[in-house]
Amino acid sequence: MLKNYIITNIGQLMGILPKETLLLKGEEMGHINVLHNAFIEVEDRKIKSFGLMENCPETESHLVNIHGDWLIPGFVDSHTHMVFANSRHNEYVMRLQGKTYEDIAAEGGGILNSAKKLQSMDEDTLYKKAHKFAEEAIAGGTLALEIKSGYGLSVESELKMLRVVKRLKNDLPISIKATFLGAHAFPSEFKSNHQGYIDLIIKEMLPSIANEQLADYIDVFCDKGFFSVDETSQILSAAAAFGLQPKIHGNELGLTGGVQTAVDNNALSVDHLEHISDVEINYLLNSNTMPVILPGSSFFLKIPYAPGRSMIDAGLPVCIASDFNPGSSPHHNLWFTWSLACLYNGLLPAEAFNALTINGAYALGLSNSHGSITEGKKACFISTRPFESINEIPYWFAQNHAKKVWY
Ligand code: NIG
Ligand code: FE
Repeated sequence: MLKNYIITNIGQLMGILPKETLLLKGEEMGHINVLHNAFIEVEDRKIKSFGLMENCPETESHLVNIHGDWLIPGFVDSHTHMVFANSRHNEYVMRLQGKTYEDIAAEGGGILNSAKKLQSMDEDTLYKKAHKFAEEAIAGGTLALEIKSGYGLSVESELKMLRVVKRLKNDLPISIKATFLGAHAFPSEFKSNHQGYIDLIIKEMLPSIANEQLADYIDVFCDKGFFSVDETSQILSAAAAFGLQPKIHGNELGLTGGVQTAVDNNALSVDHLEHISDVEINYLLNSNTMPVILPGSSFFLKIPYAPGRSMIDAGLPVCIASDFNPGSSPHHNLWFTWSLACLYNGLLPAEAFNALTINGAYALGLSNSHGSITEGKKACFISTRPFESINEIPYWFAQNHAKKVWY
C-alpha cells in the first residue's frame, strides 16, 4: 500500500471528529459528521488533511479518484477469539437438538473442547489458521483488532496462543492488541480446586506473559458457572501489578456482578451484557468503562440481545464487536454485526456506525489513532459504493460492503 496519496472525488467522507473526541455517548451517538464531494490527503500513512474537492491541494502526490464512492473509517473489532484450532460444528448440532450452551460446557464441551484441540496443535498451524481469518476480516474492513487467548488453559498453551498473536501483530498491516484470557474456564483437573488454577494464573502465567511482553490487556469470564466475582477480583489485582488493564466478559449468562467488578477494577470495557438492569447501567454511567455488546453471540446462541437502546437512552456509550470464536460466534463480518445491532439491540444505523468506529477504538485504547477521520490519525479507511443514506448500509444485511480497504 502507498505511504503518500490523495483520495479524490469522495461522494461522502464520513465520521469526521475532532481529535479530543475519544468516544461518543448517549445522543451524540446518533450524529455522523459528513463532507460531500471531498478529498483526503495521506502522508506517511497518516491523515494529513481533508476537505472539499474545490480545496484539494495541487501536489505531486499520487491521486486516486474514487468517482463518488463513500469513505468511512476502518472498523475496529475490539473483541475476538481469533486464534483457535477447530470449529465446534458438532456442538452447534447438539444445540439445534435442544441442548444449551451451558449444558454443553458443564459436560466438558465448549471452551474445554476448544482447549483440548488447541493444546495438541503446533504454533505454526495455529498461526496459519488465524492469519487466514485475519486476512478475511481485513478484506471486510476490520482495520484494528483485538485477539484473546483463553483456549490454552495451561501455562504452555496460553503462551503458545499469545505468541501466535505477537506474530500476527508483526506480520499484518493493521493494529492488533493481545488480551490474556487464561481465566476463560476452569480446566477439568481444577474443577474442584479453583484456587489451584487461580494460583497457576497468578504465579506462573502472568509473570511469564509479562516477561515476554505478550499481552496488552487481561480478561476474565466473570459469569455464572465460570469465574465468581471474588475469583475475578483476585486475578485482576494480580494483573494490575503487571500493568494489565482489564477488558471483562460479564453478564452474558446472568446478573452476576460482572459489570460492578469490571468498573471497580477500572476496566477499559465490559463485554456481552445480555443481562443488565438499571443498577448496572447506573454503575457504568459513573465510570470510564465502555459497554461492548456482541450481537453475533446472541444470534448464534439464541440468547437475549443486550439492550443497547436502553443503554444509549440512559446516556451511555455503546460499542459493538464480533466476538469471533468457534463456540458462540463463528463469524467476523462487522457488516452483519451492524445489521444485527440495529434489528435486535435497538441501535439506529448511525449509532451502530459510531459503535463500530470511534467507540470500538476506545474499547481498544486506540482512540488517538483510529476510529474517525481526524488529522494525524492512521490512514485506515473503507470505501463503499454510494448509498441513498447511511440507513441503507445495515438494511442490505450480511453483505461485505467494503469495495476497497485502505491501510
Ligand atoms: O465471548 N463467553 C465466553 N467466551 C466466548 C465463547 C467461548 C467459546 O464458547 O468458545 C464468548 O462468547
Ligand atoms: Fe468473547
